[in-house]
Amino acid sequence: MVVVEGGPTHAKACVALAESVAYRDGCDPSQGFLVGPLTPERFAYYLRHGVVRIARDGAGVVGFLIAYKSGSEPFAELSGYNDLTEWAGWHPNLSPDLLYIHQTAVARHARCRGVARTLYSALRTEFPGHDLYAATAEKPVRNEASLAMRARLGFVRVGTFRAAEAYGFKDFESGIYLLRATPDPGTTPAGYPA
Ligand SMILES: CC(C)(COP(=O)(O)OP(=O)(O)OC[C@H]1O[C@@H](n2cnc3c(N)ncnc32)[C@H](O)[C@@H]1OP(=O)(O)O)[C@@H](O)C(=O)NCCC(=O)NCCS
Repeated sequence: MVVVEGGPTHAKACVALAESVAYRDGCDPSQGFLVGPLTPERFAYYLRHGVVRIARDGAGVVGFLIAYKSGSEPFAELSGYNDLTEWAGWHPNLSPDLLYIHQTAVARHARCRGVARTLYSALRTEFPGHDLYAATAEKPVRNEASLAMRARLGFVRVGTFRAAEAYGFKDFESGIYLLRATPDPGTTPAGYPA
């Protein structure tokens, strides 16, 4: 498996992968899900304004990660969410170099083989010194796969986003998780070299 820069040729596979893991009634939320859609237009937008990385094996796309850097156009769109978030000990303004992880998805047949870990590791190698942050749905449905992944990679919970209605859910909550470029002194979380 290799990680490559996303391009227009990956649009169809990534949109299909996002659709296959979209939350829908009756799905098993413990296996992970995306709350927001990924349209071809939005994928093209992230190719222009964000960081799109693709995990690929011999058969094609097995995962993708979409992120954007502080100072970028999509990052500016986050300010409304940041204002509504209850922060605990950190705020995006405290990290000069920051990447927001918008979406990560891995095909079902390729799960639990380190694809997501490899995508995050590639991002950290490419953007040393950048803190990463991301949101994971916790109410009314908990994304257990994503929460487990965040814990294993060394993310810490730094905030709660609440909305009376979001992504089609009522009383929605997501946890906001931070992965620092360097671990806090005295700790060696799982996602860092010992
Ligand atoms: C969450 C998701 C991206 C994980 O991808 P993955 O390639 O299977 O994850 P990895 O194999 O790289 O696992 C990374 C770490 O997280 C842990 N992990 C991943 N999925 C897990 C699960 N379902 N349960 C428990 N732990 C899990 C792994 O054990 C691994 O830790 P380790 O290497 O120390 O053993 C994948 O399940 C997915 O695409 N789900 C649907 C979409 C989604 O939920 N995206 C995140 C939205 S916030």
